Amino acid sequence: MTQAPDKLVQSPVVPHIVTELPGPKARAHLEFDKLWTSPSVPRAYPVVPVRGEGCTIEDIDGNLFLDFNAGIAVTSTGHCNPKVVAAIQDQAGKLIHYSADFYIPLYAEMCAELSRIAPMKEKCRAFLGNSGTEAVEGAIKLARFATKRQNIVAFLGAFHGRTYGSVSLTASKAKYHAGFGPLLPGIYHAPFGHVADLKWFDEVLFKHLVPADEVAAIIVEPIQGEGGYLVPEDGFLQGLRKICDDNGILLISDEVQAGAGRTGKMWSIQNWDVEPDIIATAKGIASGMPLGAFIARESLMTKWGPGAHGTTYGGNPLACAAAIETIKQLEGGLMANATARGNQLMTGLREIQKKHPGLVKDVRGIGLMIGVEFDSHEHAAAVEWASFQRGVLALEAGMTVVRISPPLVITEAEAATGLRLFGEAVAEVAAKG
Ligand SMILES: Cc1ncc(COP(=O)(O)O)c(C=O)c1O
Repeated sequence: MTQAPDKLVQSPVVPHIVTELPGPKARAHLEFDKLWTSPSVPRAYPVVPVRGEGCTIEDIDGNLFLDFNAGIAVTSTGHCNPKVVAAIQDQAGKLIHYSADFYIPLYAEMCAELSRIAPMKEKCRAFLGNSGTEAVEGAIKLARFATKRQNIVAFLGAFHGRTYGSVSLTASKAKYHAGFGPLLPGIYHAPFGHVADLKWFDEVLFKHLVPADEVAAIIVEPIQGEGGYLVPEDGFLQGLRKICDDNGILLISDEVQAGAGRTGKMWSIQNWDVEPDIIATAKGIASGMPLGAFIARESLMTKWGPGAHGTTYGGNPLACAAAIETIKQLEGGLMANATARGNQLMTGLREIQKKHPGLVKDVRGIGLMIGVEFDSHEHAAAVEWASFQRGVLALEAGMTVVRISPPLVITEAEAATGLRLFGEAVAEVAAKG
């Protein structure tokens, strides 16, 4: 195996591509990887990252990429943010693990931080796990336990994870369910996004399928992520809140991808001034350390007692140290930068759309959660590849969308460079027809 270089290759300009892509070391690594890894891992395109700094990723061949992925909307403070690294290093020298079955100070501090930044009026409490899927699993367990109701409503197009509960809620692609049934019972999928769709609850769900007073929760991504970076119509989330209030149903906001400052607000649901009962978070909240959490109103969270829910690793001190520093930086300017750079990128992408209206069907999103919709899956995949060849890492979402979700530290100059190269990639695909 090839060793990574000690330092990020220095270059005045990023991207800086020095080999064909994938390069020789990357190709060799792909052969090695193919021998040992589970083929279930969904590989996007052949980037072999070995080092990161801010919005730059260096691959195994010394190519420097401009990262519009942030490791799938994770490294919010940039790759290897120096203060996050220092917080992790400092904590690693003190205590790496002990388990939340005991009283790790950082665990409670992290829960207090999450409760402080939660958008609920009522005081909150939090539970810490290791990933988005665990956050969702815990949230739906709490919802069932607290309401003593069994059914849960999710949305067509939703992605909530891949463990049994969360994959049962997921309805973005049939392949996520294929071969795995039976899934969790008591789950219904509603149409997403349009205010007019909300009549489905009264006219279909509550009338034909299950009484409203047997529904524990509605779980929603305020902006659908894997489903294609879909922003709902104004009034949709407010309408969901009303359905919940009218029927004693809990509203769970899955903020795993859209939260942690990415849309310019800490939680994406705050863009509509809607208050959820439970929030699930992960990804960007700890800058790449594995941390997931759900935050709930205190009157809900205190309904269960010792042993009802727990985990060995959740709230690991290194992840908590990273997350506390991350939240500090999100509040200290990164959310504002997400809005400013998001506006810059959206404007630039709309110019690209104007030049290629047959190919680019839509540009949408909030802050640094932007989806560019193409006229076909083939064209979206071709643009993703052409961007990669130019040194810009962007990733498909849904079937026809390329998502732009860079680290929140992205500069004006980096956004401009990325736009120029993404525009060239689109032009190349348009020229090929
Ligand atoms: C909205 C949403 N929820 C949950 C998950 C699952 O998170 P994880 O992959 O950390 O389990 C994801 C992952 O992409 C997600 O986007």
